[in-house]
Amino acid sequence: MRKPVIAGNWKMHMTCAQAREYTARFLPLIEATPNDRHVVIAPPFTAISSMAESVGGSRLELSSQNVHWEDDGAYTAEVSPTMLLEHQVRYAIVGHSEPRKYFSESDEQINRRARSAQAHGLIPIVCVGESDEQRERGEAERVIRRQVEQGLEDTDPDKLVVAYEPIWAIGTGKTCEASEANRICGLIRRWVGASELIIQYGGSVKPGNIDELMAMSDIDGVLVGGASLDPESFARIANYQTS
Ligand code: PGA
Repeated sequence: MRKPVIAGNWKMHMTCAQAREYTARFLPLIEATPNDRHVVIAPPFTAISSMAESVGGSRLELSSQNVHWEDDGAYTAEVSPTMLLEHQVRYAIVGHSEPRKYFSESDEQINRRARSAQAHGLIPIVCVGESDEQRERGEAERVIRRQVEQGLEDTDPDKLVVAYEPIWAIGTGKTCEASEANRICGLIRRWVGASELIIQYGGSVKPGNIDELMAMSDIDGVLVGGASLDPESFARIANYQTS
């Protein structure tokens, strides 16, 4: 059985004070959330330590928004797996389209991050997805397949989450049709060749579309940006119902 992972990516939002206020409002809203799913938040690095204190003992798990492949060294602005483990971080997002776009992250770097995360016991959430132009040109499948093959090389599919995030759906309010998202997630599962792989959809997920997305056969969770910044809306997403 694949246990869905519902993850909020706060991106560059939330000071420590705001994160504490959020957590105080959010935790009561997920007290009755069924245990058949993981609920995860990826705060910015600066809020991870204070979040770890306020979520201790609750069912909310923490993710980082990136992770480096070395344990330490001369890598200005990077954060290592051991630094994250000190704060009970369980997941690490890698290869999100924003660092791919703004910092030219390559599939090779993403792969190194993912492999190092796994070697340290973190679960990488590896993001893949095509741009608007690539979709228009009919290249979506080829692009995603390359990202999957290079980004996931030598990783263990049992300790992995893949997030299918079409770039044109991120932060735009344009969600990918649930059936199309499901089709791509099914292709990714085939390419990886692991029936138990957890595959999320991401891109304008909100309270109004979560139930339909989670009812799909190959979608095992979601990666949520904007709608995770409001505790009520993210709680509604975490409390999705499929029947
Ligand atoms: P969005 O972002 O939910 O705001 O579209 C998703 C993401 O970037 O992971």
